[in-house]
Amino acid sequence: MNDAMKSAAPVLNSTSKINLVKARGSLVWDDHGKEYIDCTAQAWSNNLGANDPRVVEAAIAQLRDMTHIRPNFGSAAHTRLVSKLREVSPASLNQMGFALHGSLAGEMAMKLAFKNRPGAQNLLVLQDGYHGRSLATLGASWPHPNNPFLAIQPRFTRVPHPNPYRTRMGMDPEAESQLCLGLLEETILKGVDGGVAAIMMEPIQGNGGHIEFPRSYYKGVREICNRLGVLLIFDEVQTGFGRMGTMFAADYYDVVPDIIVFGKGVGGGFPLAGIFADDKLKWFDEGEEALTFGHFPVSLAAGYATVEAIVADGLCEKARLSGEYITARLLDMQKRHPLIGDVRCPGLMASIELVKDRTTKEPACRESQEVYRLGLERGVLFGESRYAGLGNLIKVKPPLDIERPLLERALDVLDEVIGIIEEQRA
Ligand SMILES: Cc1ncc(COP(=O)(O)O)c(C=O)c1O
Repeated sequence: MNDAMKSAAPVLNSTSKINLVKARGSLVWDDHGKEYIDCTAQAWSNNLGANDPRVVEAAIAQLRDMTHIRPNFGSAAHTRLVSKLREVSPASLNQMGFALHGSLAGEMAMKLAFKNRPGAQNLLVLQDGYHGRSLATLGASWPHPNNPFLAIQPRFTRVPHPNPYRTRMGMDPEAESQLCLGLLEETILKGVDGGVAAIMMEPIQGNGGHIEFPRSYYKGVREICNRLGVLLIFDEVQTGFGRMGTMFAADYYDVVPDIIVFGKGVGGGFPLAGIFADDKLKWFDEGEEALTFGHFPVSLAAGYATVEAIVADGLCEKARLSGEYITARLLDMQKRHPLIGDVRCPGLMASIELVKDRTTKEPACRESQEVYRLGLERGVLFGESRYAGLGNLIKVKPPLDIERPLLERALDVLDEVIGIIEEQRA
């Protein structure tokens, strides 16, 4: 960074816009030449590090051949990606459809569920879930404060879910899991008018506070869905393609849903999303699901190269091992830093919740924003969460192949800045 650039460098706070000009692997650079370790993987999407040459070359080759086709035509890029994805999708989930955004893939899943449950009137979602920003997925997400679109978005029935860190009335997490399963069943049977087509849930609620449920909850939801003829949709837009140390959260929890929604990490930095659906489900008839750029060949080619690289580079295993390292480091920090209330980390879906007081668990939002700001100053981009104005979560979700020295450096910075904030508080 030259002197002219230095003097022009802005003072960063959490709302500053940083203009990024270059990205490689787990690093990004801004227009002042400043380098950052990217613990956000750009909205948790660069599971394979940024600008992987294999993905870039595959996209360029596709660009030269054909950029766009209407989705009712076939293409080599589509055929190749479908067969590659069938190698990694859970066993019975072999049907698939594509879109360019996770939100639209979520809507595709909703539509397929209703097509397969004709006459059903309801879709259930979880209270702190997040499924996107299209009108339907906004409606399926946690209630957004000051939402100007409320009048025109569809309404869904939200059901309570367990939250092991903040259980109801201080219950034991396992007891709360059973309570929530009971409430889910009651809602299906008595809480809604008309049948329920599906329940849609993120296996770990990313945007809604990184909430992982007790294992019994996943199995229990599957069992209730089986028994009552309700379809189970996992929104794996964040958890899919290796982030949890397994290809999908469905593998991690050993629970196979009827439909998986995927996005983000599958495209290697290109817009790509879609669904896997169980073989037993009736697929769409022609025209029911037709997005002009739904089969954008460049994204499909990039997706093929990305999935191939995730497998060839053993990124699930790398994410698992890095996740173990992060967990150990964060737990150690928790012993020394009272600000850290909770540590949550399957794989590289890692986060800490900052609290003012470990007994009351009052969210430490201002302190979290300080972590973000001080991290930026030191060249580390941490993920933050502004969910429902709470915003006391710091996320560490870099590309799955982040080199250990970079990860060490990012965690050293986290340790340092939390220490500084605690000193200031004292
Ligand atoms: C779990 C989940 N589902 C769906 C979406 C929406 O994806 P997109 O922003 O690509 O529409 C997101 C985005 O953050 C997400 O985290």
